[in-house]
Amino acid sequence: MCGIVGVLGKHEVSPIILDALKRLEYRGYDSAGIATVNRGQLDRRRAVGKLINLSDTLVHEPLPGRAGIGHTRWATHGGPSVANAHPHQAGRVAVVHNGIIENFRALREELAAAGAHFSSETDTETIVQLASHYLDQGLTPVQAARATLKRLEGAFALAFLFEGEEDLIVCARRGSPLCIGHGEGEMYLGSDAIALGELTDRITYLEEGDWAILTRSGLQVFDAEDQQTSRPMTRINAAQARVDKSGHRHFMAKEMAEQPAVLKAAMEAYAGAGSEALDLPEGLDFTSADRLIMVACGTAYYACQVAKYWFEQFAGLPVEIDIASEYRYRAPVLGAANMALFVSQSGETADTLAALRHVAPHVGQVVAVVNVPTSSIAREASVVLPIHAGPEIGVASTKAFTAQLQVLALLALQAGLARGRLSAEDYRARLSELRAAPGFVAQALDREEEIRRMTEVLAKARDVLFLGRGVMYPLALEGALKLKEISYIHAEAHAAGELKHGPIALIDEDLPVIVFAPHDALFEKTVSNMQEVMARQGKVLLISDARGLVEAGDVPFTLQMPTVPDLIAPIVYAVPAQLIAYHTALHRGTDVDQPRNLAKSVTVE
Ligand code: G6P
Repeated sequence: MCGIVGVLGKHEVSPIILDALKRLEYRGYDSAGIATVNRGQLDRRRAVGKLINLSDTLVHEPLPGRAGIGHTRWATHGGPSVANAHPHQAGRVAVVHNGIIENFRALREELAAAGAHFSSETDTETIVQLASHYLDQGLTPVQAARATLKRLEGAFALAFLFEGEEDLIVCARRGSPLCIGHGEGEMYLGSDAIALGELTDRITYLEEGDWAILTRSGLQVFDAEDQQTSRPMTRINAAQARVDKSGHRHFMAKEMAEQPAVLKAAMEAYAGAGSEALDLPEGLDFTSADRLIMVACGTAYYACQVAKYWFEQFAGLPVEIDIASEYRYRAPVLGAANMALFVSQSGETADTLAALRHVAPHVGQVVAVVNVPTSSIAREASVVLPIHAGPEIGVASTKAFTAQLQVLALLALQAGLARGRLSAEDYRARLSELRAAPGFVAQALDREEEIRRMTEVLAKARDVLFLGRGVMYPLALEGALKLKEISYIHAEAHAAGELKHGPIALIDEDLPVIVFAPHDALFEKTVSNMQEVMARQGKVLLISDARGLVEAGDVPFTLQMPTVPDLIAPIVYAVPAQLIAYHTALHRGTDVDQPRNLAKSVTVE
């Protein structure tokens, strides 16, 4: 949610900042802005909407300077407007901010009473007004930034730029991620390493509560108690941090196409080609766990919903799952033998992180399944399992979902073996089914053209219903979420058996109903529910395998998936769910990679 960048460069920094912001645009695109110090003077350019608008502004009104900060915004306090766009400036200081200042109202009143004039509706402006107030009292820039930080409550990653200071940025991290990049005579900061991927491969991750002074010659880091400290510099894989569409029209298309390779990589990371024993991190103990608690948001939550079936079926492990934003405000009954598992693509989702912190002191094991191993959630968990999906840029999560499923399936099998619920033979058989997933996913991807044609009709719908039973129910939820996110068509999903308890009232000849039903143990039941829809003129699209399509009889629209083992069906059926959303969105001409109002990484509660 919002991306920030800072550069102390040897050359003009506006183009460099703009380029880094491009790689952070997945975090929000309501507005963007850059501030620089040039000949001692602060100046800034801001524009509403996507980065391209800021880029146009800079063509007409260039922004010189070799020190600067930049921002791409996902609006929280105050709508998308130039006045609300970052960087904010008051007097001799400018600030970019990712997060929320929770005590901003009290601060704003205090500052207004002292004569400050506010020009935006944002919480962020209180930060610059406060810093400006301290500068006016005679504090140095570093002292003013430090004094300001002490007054702030909430979550933030911040960067301060000061008039007259062309070799100084002060930055801070509390609750939102921030990393520092080391260049040759240059220094950078960014919300993530991807932002800095074209600039350097030497990164220092700030820890929670840290603040830092950046100059071209180095970095001084202070912890939450203002003690100077050192944080390690790590080398990142710059090639991985560089992201492009590799010839695809959208990041989402590229990321869907990458799924077979990603699943193979995740499998090899944990169950090296041919090996039977899983290579899992130390400290993961399923035998002592009496309960598994899984918490996540959005698509990651649906991956947990699928995995619940697996952990119960293969490991006999009682499972509780919840949406992170709900979980942390409950009074969950926790015990030392519980294992808590948090699933997050970004590893930065504020709700999931807050739930982790809420639970961690009370349970025996805190496990994270993440795509970004350097993320906050990964750092705070005791055991981390990366999903090895590589950077996911499209706002609608695709390859991260199937990779999450793959890793969770591996864990469920391991838990089954460890707890004596799965024989060694069954375990090996299930493992080889998982090994086959990439090939089946590739076959599912081959149905793209057929799906594209089908979605011509779907694109005209006002509402769409998704149905499924068992593991296909969370899949239906994921299909509906994908469609809503990128095509803006209202979509909802129901457990097929629940239809008759209410949602069936929605069915008429205008309502497309998409049914996920591989020929598994629940097939007959799902098909009966589908018949109930067809009897009421609902327009059904049945997604099933060869046998299922034959047994289902006459259905208006069908899509044939490969015949796959039950275990991997959710991974394979995720593909049509994604492709349906993608092509419907293309027909409607919406912005697939950056759908309105959304952001990929939601670092506010
Ligand atoms: C946002 C994204 C979703 C994502 C959710 C959880 O809402 O738009 O695609 O599933 O956050 O993100 P996480 O990074 O924790 O998996």
